Amino acid sequence: MARTRVRDLPAATGNEVVLQGWLYNRRSSKKMHFLQLRDGSGIVQCIVTKDDFGDDEFLKIGQIPYESAIQLTGTAHGDDRAPGGVEVHISGVEVISRSEEYPISKQDHGPDFLLSHRHLWLRSRKQVALMRIRDEVIRAIRDSMHDRGFTCIDAPIFTPSSCEGTSTLFEVDYFDEEKAFLTQSGQLYMEAAAMALGDVYCLGPTFRAEKSKTRRHLTEFWMFEPEMAFADLDDVMNLAEQMLSTIVERVLQNRREDLEVLERDIEKLKAVQLPFPRISYDDAVKRMNEEGHSFEWGGDLGAPDEAIISSWFPSPVMVHGYPEAVKAFYMKRDLDDPRVARGVDVLAPEGYGEIIGGGQREDDLEVLLERIQQHQLSEEDFRWYLDLRRFGSVPHGGFGLGVERTVCWLAGIEHVRECIPFPRMLYRLYP
Ligand code: 4AD
Ligand code: MG
Repeated sequence: MARTRVRDLPAATGNEVVLQGWLYNRRSSKKMHFLQLRDGSGIVQCIVTKDDFGDDEFLKIGQIPYESAIQLTGTAHGDDRAPGGVEVHISGVEVISRSEEYPISKQDHGPDFLLSHRHLWLRSRKQVALMRIRDEVIRAIRDSMHDRGFTCIDAPIFTPSSCEGTSTLFEVDYFDEEKAFLTQSGQLYMEAAAMALGDVYCLGPTFRAEKSKTRRHLTEFWMFEPEMAFADLDDVMNLAEQMLSTIVERVLQNRREDLEVLERDIEKLKAVQLPFPRISYDDAVKRMNEEGHSFEWGGDLGAPDEAIISSWFPSPVMVHGYPEAVKAFYMKRDLDDPRVARGVDVLAPEGYGEIIGGGQREDDLEVLLERIQQHQLSEEDFRWYLDLRRFGSVPHGGFGLGVERTVCWLAGIEHVRECIPFPRMLYRLYP
């Protein structure tokens, strides 16, 4: 008989089914075992009675270690009280692979222990819910980009130069004395691709040698980076809010159960509404000072400042017009005020901080050359990038959305490390 996935059980009530999975949990009384079977698609309660199996078998089933792989045969019953609305009355139990004593118990473990057992921790209910939400976010992005006519262009991972400052580069030996760097962002390559295909995006791993141990920093994270030719800062902000709104909608629509497993306050996500608030860096600084949080114009916003600004709004807030001195070399300067860059950061609600960074790119060859010198970058490394300003330069822009930070906010998780299958951080490369 073909196996039924737990997810498909509601359509199989009344039928005999074969389930294959792992023993997630067990409660026992004198005459019954309640086995929780997980198969990746869901968790179902399975009932084993002493009457059906006899004393010996019943005892043995009570001793199957957690996380053993098992096959169960039984009849699916609709039951409103059962989690998932279905339970299965079992007539046959077969152990496919008997587990050793499982290191993760249902009690609390410290984060270090769990991270060292990430390969097993992934099996737990919350982690499964998180991975499903992550998958939904990525699919929502790809679907929406496709619907909007953007072409997916994969950016290289090995790069000859830095995009986001030289202090967070991972260096790799690259044959004969040459050095390569793991990419910090696909942006520069997306700019080239936008001049070829108009509207493009990439979605892939990016790397930052971040020496900071915060709840928002990974050394390897996934970034979604759209880039548009013939676009200014407003176009970038419009796309950013529409993409975020679509992502929130899709997660609310398709991952409701997973949000419940994570005990996420769904009202907070429902409160996210278009259009998102837009506030200039200038105005944000003024308001912070008015509210007694002193902040000097010119500095970058830190996590506490971002938390204050985001607390003013239920939707993500787009802070634009940062001082150019705190932003990357490629940012277009405001023509009215050269101290200001035409960049935007999107700050998530509830203090989750920056989830998107982007803006309009410098499209003037002379200004860009000047900026490369100011930032002490090698002109030679950027020859190809400068070519884009030599051959049909146009206003263009885009942004980078951090996938894990976005998932972290949507799922209401404390630390980004749980929002990627196998986190890489300062002091964490295993497993
Ligand atoms: O603001 P960032 O550094 O912008 C760029 O890299 C641009 N080149 C993107 C572009 O315009 N195409 O990074 C973009 C986003 C951040 O807002 C944040 O969500 C995420 O990437 N991010 C990180 N996420 C986890 N760990 C880190 N160390 C991150 N650094 C950035
Ligand atoms: Mg940024």
